[in-house]
Amino acid sequence: MSIQTFKKLLVTGGAGFIGSNFIHFVLATRPVSVINLDCLSYSGNLENLSAIEADERYRFVHGDINDRQLLEDLLKECDAVVHFAAESHVDRSIIDARPFVKSNVMGTQTLLDALRSSGQDKRLVHVSTDEVYGSLPLDKPELKFHEESPIKPNSPYAASKAASDLLVQSYHETFGLDALITRCSNNFGAYQFPEKVIPLFVTNLLEGKKVPLYGDGKNVRDWLHVLDHCEAILTVLEKGQSGEVYNIGGNNERSNLELTQAILQIMGQGPEMIEYVADRLGHDRRYAIDAEKIKRELGWEPTRSSWPEALEETVQWYVDNQDWWRHVKSGAYRDYYQLQYGQRLTTH
Ligand code: NAD
Ligand code: TYD
Repeated sequence: MSIQTFKKLLVTGGAGFIGSNFIHFVLATRPVSVINLDCLSYSGNLENLSAIEADERYRFVHGDINDRQLLEDLLKECDAVVHFAAESHVDRSIIDARPFVKSNVMGTQTLLDALRSSGQDKRLVHVSTDEVYGSLPLDKPELKFHEESPIKPNSPYAASKAASDLLVQSYHETFGLDALITRCSNNFGAYQFPEKVIPLFVTNLLEGKKVPLYGDGKNVRDWLHVLDHCEAILTVLEKGQSGEVYNIGGNNERSNLELTQAILQIMGQGPEMIEYVADRLGHDRRYAIDAEKIKRELGWEPTRSSWPEALEETVQWYVDNQDWWRHVKSGAYRDYYQLQYGQRLTTH
C-alpha cells in the first residue's frame, strides 16, 4: 500500500462540525496547509476555528462551492480536496429540499467540473453518509450496510447525498478523476450544531428544557466520535485506492431511547425530562455499518468511541463550552465573521 503526502488541502465546508474538527486534526498531525472554503450557511461557525485563525498554514475563504471560477482559482494552489460542504440536517430537508439539491448535488457537480478543468492530478475525498443506503429493520440485527449494499435513500437529505456520490463515481469512471468516497455513521463530539440530537438534548437540559424524543424512541443509530471519523478520512486520503468507497462506523449501535437515558444519567436528570413527540416523517429505523473494508485494506479502526466514556466527555465539552453553544442558540455566532473580517454576513 502506497502512502501519498499532500502540501495544501482545499477543505470545503470547514466551518461546520466535522470540517472544523478535521482542520484542527490535520493541522495538528500533518505538515500541510489548509484553505477552508465555506459559504457560512446557518451551520457554518468560524468560532469553531478561532484557536487556529493566526496559524499561517490556515486560510479562510468565504465562498460557495457553486462558484466554479473561485474553485478553479483555489485549486491552482492545492493538491487535494476534502469535500464536506453540504446541507446536513434531515429535518430541514423534510421542510425544504431545495437547498439540499443546490449545495449537495449542484455544488458537488460544480466542484467535480472545476477539478476536471484543473487537471487530473488532484485527489478528491467526498465525505458522504451511511444514510444513502436507506434503512435496516430492527428485527434483523445481523444485517449491516456494506459498500455494495444498494443505494436506497429515504429522506431528501440522503437522496441528495446519494446523487452526489453517484456523480463522483461517474466522474471517476468517465473522466478518470482521482476520487474516493467515504460513508460514515452518526458522529458526535465538539462543535456539533445544536439541532442534531446529542447537542440539542444536552443543551436543552442545561437550559432546564425537556428533550423531544421522536416516535417510540426505538430507532437505532451507530455512533462514532468525530475525531475517529477525521482520522478515517485522512487515512482514505493518504492510502485509499482511487474510485473506491469506504464505509466508516463505530460498531456502536444505540437506540435513541438508550442514548437519551445515557445523557440523562450523565447529567443527573430523570425520565420526566423526556417529551415524546410526533415521529419524523419517513424516519429511518436503523443504520448499521460494516466497516471491515477500511480496517482490512487501510488499517483504520476507531479508537476514541468507547461508550459511555466518549459520550460523557462530549457532554462535558458542552458543559464547559457554554459560550460556544449559547452564541449559536442566540444567533450571536453570526457576528463573529463581521468582527474578524469586517463584512456583514448576507447568507442564512
Ligand atoms: P454541518 O452542517 O455542521 O457543516 C456543513 C458546512 O458546509 C457548514 O459550515 C456550511 O456553511 C458549509 N456549506 C453548506 N453549503 C455550502 C456551500 N454551498 N458552499 C460552501 N459551504 C457550504 O455538517 P457536518 O455534520 O459537519 O457534515 C459535514 C459532511 O459530513 C456533510 O457532507 C455530511 O453529509 C457528512 N456526514 C455527516 C455526518 C454527521 O453525523 N454529522 C455523518 C456522516 C457524513
Ligand atoms: P439526528 O441527530 O438528526 O441525525 P440523523 O437524522 O442524521 O440520524 O438524529 C439522530 C436520531 O435522533 C434520529 O433517529 C432522529 C432522533 N431525534 C430525536 O428523537 N429528536 C430530535 O429532536 C432530533 C433532532 C433527532
